[in-house]
Amino acid sequence: MPLPAEDHAYFLELQTRTGWGRTLARFVGWCLPERPARVLDVGTGPALAPALAARRGHWAVGVDSAPEMLAQSLHPRVALARAEALPFPAGAFGLTLASNLLYLLPDPLPALQEMARVTAPGGHVAVLNPSEHMSVAAAQALADARGLQGLARETLLNLAARAEAHFRWDAAALEALFARVGLRLTATRTAMRPGLLRWALAEVLP
Ligand SMILES: C[S@@+](CC[C@H](N)C(=O)[O-])C[C@H]1O[C@@H](n2cnc3c(N)ncnc32)[C@H](O)[C@@H]1O
Repeated sequence: MPLPAEDHAYFLELQTRTGWGRTLARFVGWCLPERPARVLDVGTGPALAPALAARRGHWAVGVDSAPEMLAQSLHPRVALARAEALPFPAGAFGLTLASNLLYLLPDPLPALQEMARVTAPGGHVAVLNPSEHMSVAAAQALADARGLQGLARETLLNLAARAEAHFRWDAAALEALFARVGLRLTATRTAMRPGLLRWALAEVLP
């Protein structure tokens, strides 16, 4: 089965017309602080996450390294930037998040370091990645059980194939990764039954 071309239209459809948008919305709802904060979404794609944060009263901005992703953005405040060199001063945000980005990078550490740098002490970094339970076989079983077809099915299998080739993190591995950049894991949970994704929230230590 050929994988879909991952252009802007692909991610826009994914974030607005498939269950992925609902999964992302649940993750964003889980990690947003109660009080209004400045929120940064790294590797934002069509910028659904900052749009959702703004809807809840936060000041939000999304960045992505691919200009075409930002062409028809779902949120007005977006910027072209690489996760490894974020164009913001230290401590500029109360929450910095990255959904489905870190696990794709050859080395996630420089991006995570930057995310920690631009987040204020006491603020949080939140990430969504494939969990230790993600595999092509598990994704196929889930897609069959849910009767997923078309884009939703292809996307899930694509994610699983990439996860097998890149990173899948359990709680202990994420805790160790966070600790290397001065972040303390404060909460983690799995999502997408039977737990194919892992959400994690970490505090920036003073
Ligand atoms: C799998 S998509 C995830 C999009 C969105 N966060 C979501 O969960 O639906 C990964 C996104 O990260 C962007 N990206 C990849 N490498 C990046 C990097 N080094 N810095 C910033 N963005 C990057 C891609 O252009 C793409 O939009």
